[in-house]
Amino acid sequence: MSKKVYIESYGCQMNHSDSEIVASILAKDGYTTAATAEEADLVLLNTCSIREKAEYTVMQRINEMNALKAKKRGMKVGVLGCMAERMREDLLEKKKVVDLVVGPDAYRSLPLLLDEVESGQKAVNVLLSREETYAEIEPVRLDSNGVTAFVTIMRGCDNMCAFCVVPFTRGRERSRDPHSIVEECRQLVAKGYKEVTLLGQNVDSYKWTPKDPMANGSGATDFADLLSMVAEVSPALRVRYSTSHPKDMTDKVLAVMTRYANICKYVHLPVQSGSSDVLKRMNRGYSREWYLDRIASIRKHMPGAAISTDIITGFCGETEEDHQQTLSLMEEVRFDMAFMFKYSERPKTLAARKYPDDVPEEVKSRRLQEVIAKLNSTAGDLRRNAVGEERVVLVEGESKRSAEFMYGRDDQYTTVIVPRGSGATEIKAGDFVRVRILSGTSASLKGEVIAVIPHPAAMEPLSIA
Ligand code: 5AD
Ligand code: SF4
Repeated sequence: MSKKVYIESYGCQMNHSDSEIVASILAKDGYTTAATAEEADLVLLNTCSIREKAEYTVMQRINEMNALKAKKRGMKVGVLGCMAERMREDLLEKKKVVDLVVGPDAYRSLPLLLDEVESGQKAVNVLLSREETYAEIEPVRLDSNGVTAFVTIMRGCDNMCAFCVVPFTRGRERSRDPHSIVEECRQLVAKGYKEVTLLGQNVDSYKWTPKDPMANGSGATDFADLLSMVAEVSPALRVRYSTSHPKDMTDKVLAVMTRYANICKYVHLPVQSGSSDVLKRMNRGYSREWYLDRIASIRKHMPGAAISTDIITGFCGETEEDHQQTLSLMEEVRFDMAFMFKYSERPKTLAARKYPDDVPEEVKSRRLQEVIAKLNSTAGDLRRNAVGEERVVLVEGESKRSAEFMYGRDDQYTTVIVPRGSGATEIKAGDFVRVRILSGTSASLKGEVIAVIPHPAAMEPLSIA
């Protein structure tokens, strides 16, 4: 009988993607995946350290797993990911709560470490690597809808943003061989997938230099080159990516985006704050003006593009004036979507060492509410303005509310709900459909299907304002 592993993932998309690599490594070691912790011989929590709350949630979950372990003899519990890296001593030595602690660059050693665990020891490997990209490992797709998949193109981060724990938990930046990326995308197409999202902490600094530059007759591959290579895999493979960094986002990338109908016209460009003073303390490497110039460039290249962002409220020393500047930047850019957070001090970061966490909790919260309200008002306007337009939607599955409706996403990453139809006109997951938008809320759109099309380019030009 094969052993069963249950993997629970927290945090960013990258972490979820790593869990698919872990599942693949363990599959070779005889493990199949279990749907619940109760059924599993091995429970792995792939964890996130980005904010204190994220770590707290995982700590609660570890306690639950230990309660389960007490009932299930022989069950093992492991902690993977960013918390493994940051809290290895706490996890293994002080609290003795887990059997296994493995950092993001050490997943290949899991089979060996599990042998150690089987022999009754605690096992740990949190070594960070300058090279590991898991390039040739074919991920086992977990929780997949069979339509959309994530493909990691680089790991780690060399930007030292003052608030951020990632450089400490995921190590130095390194890029994955572009040929292995293209190959993974080809295999996804062969399996019927219709969309890939290329993942990296900072995709704009993707750079691959072959060991022998003359080997394939070309020099280095940058992100713009990689994006075209992936777009060329198939016109029926839609391509997205995340995340860009405002200091590194090039017009070359924007030009590639305009060239291919199958690259989504959507940019996630975290601003963090609208105040140049705060950005400086955050060590982001750009000013408000620079950010607005990047936005202008996106709009010039792709007038209908969607832009989303990340915002932190209450970073060290943030004044009311700084906060107003964030709100005014939001008003100016009119983001389609945003992830918004209260600042949470993280040990070892530049900010923790250099600046007092001096904005009171209630002020952080109030500013966060104001930022959320601003986003909802501008995003709501954008969706309402979409009424009457036509969009290409990739259908992902049945709507959660009703089996008579399907949901999917348009080019701008907005969720669109459409009637399923019946008989010859019934649509299914994986279809590209041309949709006329009938109504919108701040979060999603509703529309009617005009036609099923073979790929996104089949309906150009789009009637996007
Ligand atoms: N506190 C709050 N938010 C943070 N982020 C990163 N570090 C912190 C922190 N210490 C946010 C940033 C980043 C997103 C992934 O998480 O906005 O872009
Ligand atoms: Fe969380 Fe950042 Fe680690 Fe992703 S990289 S899991 S967001 S701490």
